[in-house]
Order: sequence, then structure tokens, then C-alpha cells
Amino acid sequence: MCLGDALTVMRSQDDTSCDLIYLDPPFMTQRVQATQAGAVFDDRWPGGFREYLAFLRPRLEQARRLLAQSGSLYLHLDWRTVHYVKCLADEIFGIENFLNEIVWSYRTGGRSDRWFARKHDTLLLYAKQAGRHVFHVQRNGSFRTDGLLYDDTGRPYKKTRKGRLYFHPDGPACTDVWEIPFLSTVSCERTGYPAQKPEALLERIIRTSTDPGQLVADFFCGSGTTLAVAKRLGRRYFGCDVSHEAVTVTRQRLRSVPACKRPAAD
Ligand SMILES: C[S@@+](CC[C@H](N)C(=O)[O-])C[C@H]1O[C@@H](n2cnc3c(N)ncnc32)[C@H](O)[C@@H]1O
Repeated sequence: MCLGDALTVMRSQDDTSCDLIYLDPPFMTQRVQATQAGAVFDDRWPGGFREYLAFLRPRLEQARRLLAQSGSLYLHLDWRTVHYVKCLADEIFGIENFLNEIVWSYRTGGRSDRWFARKHDTLLLYAKQAGRHVFHVQRNGSFRTDGLLYDDTGRPYKKTRKGRLYFHPDGPACTDVWEIPFLSTVSCERTGYPAQKPEALLERIIRTSTDPGQLVADFFCGSGTTLAVAKRLGRRYFGCDVSHEAVTVTRQRLRSVPACKRPAAD
């Protein structure tokens, strides 16, 4: 974990050294993002999209260079920039390596009476090389129970033309719409750092796209959510941020996460 601009830090890393890169850059909110204690990072872009995309381009190029052949990039954005950045990222990663547009849906926060409440972020998922990428199906929630039959052992199934369709005991496979609550104002995860993401979001990403022991990197690490979850799940981790506050919060947070003593596989 170090203090520094993502570009400088990325340039100092070896080719193909990262198994997963999660990037959660400023969202072009055109505001200074602050805690009650004061300014933390400046998200104003007087040059608009041109300036924002010029900032992201070299960092995405570096992300591609740093990814292992089986690696993946999750690029976290929202409605303001995602459509512009998608075109840029396709150019850099190749549209054939684009795997998913993940909608992270949440319900908390304000509402407007002038447009539909904006209650999702978008994560663009790219493989360095589609087909060679690590991908472990995640399961969450429960199946519809209407019309289910039960076999002699009590296992639920559905009758189809091909025979019995049994349901996976761990629930349905996750789709590209993720219902994960935003951190509540009183969540014990909260560090006070602006734009902090929930650990459950990073847990799904890390479990899907890495194996234990692999290297997870986050070059806009903020409060250190990615690194803390990676440590808890027994992955190696590396990150940086340009803000002193971020580095302080992340270091403190990492100290409180016990090292994982899990076996070699999840
Ligand atoms: C959206 S926040 C990341 C929040 C983080 N995912 C979390 O859960 O706490 C974006 C971060 O990018 C950092 N940042 C902005 N410009 C940067 C740059 N050029 N290099 C590295 N970090 C930068 C900001 O300081 C801020 O912490």
C-alpha cells in the first residue's frame, strides 16, 4: 500500500503481475469529495469529458499491461461517465474481451421528483484474454418455489421435457444485476471516507475472479475496501491512492483485518 498517483505507481509494476484489478476512480461528480473533517479528493474536471477521458486512458493502458493472461479488470463507474468510458475501454481491451456490464443496484439515498431516482452504479468487466480468465460462478438468493416437486429424498425439482431439473442447493447463479445494499450511515464498516464501497461488493468480485493466493490490485483504493477484503479472503493485495487521508485510513483498516488462515481453495 503506498501514497502516489495511480499512473506513476502502475508504471513501476511488472507486466502481467496482477490477477485482478479493481478501479474505482473519481466519478466526475464535479464536486470536492469531503468528510466532515475536510476535503479528501477533488473530483472537479473543468475540461469536462475530454479531460476525464485523457486522465483515464493511460491508466487503463497500464491496467491492461499489468494483468496476467488469466486476469480481469473491474472498472467501477456511474451514469455520468460509463457510456463514454465504455468506448475508451473497448478500444484498449478489445471489445472481444468485454464480459459484462454489471449493474450494482441499491436503494438507499435521496429521491428526486424530477427524474427516476439514480440507484445503480455500473461496473465494466473485461478479461485480459476472454476464455483464459478466472471465473468462479457465485450463488445468491433463492429459487422460485411455485410449481416445485419433491423427490423421495425431499430434494426439490422441476419437471422439464428432458426430465427432472434439480436446483443447486446454494441458490441460483448470480446474474449481471447485483442487489447489494449501500453502506448505511451507521454501518460498522464505515470509515468516514467518501465514496467508500461495501465489502460485500468487493467480496463477490474477488471470489469470482481470483483464487486464494492470487494478487488483487486497486490503484484508487480510497478507504482500502478492496485490500481489506482481499486480505480477509487470503489473496495477496496491493494498492495506492493519491490522498494522504486514504493511505492513513487504509493502513489503519488493514491492521484490523486478521490474516486469512483458509485452506488453499475457497
Ligand atoms: C471513488 S474513491 C475510491 C473509494 C474506494 N473504492 C473505497 O471503497 O473506499 C476514488 C479515489 O481515487 C483517488 N484518486 C483520485 N485521483 C487519483 C490518482 N490520480 N491516483 C490515485 N488515486 C487517485 C481519490 O483520492 C479517492 O480516494
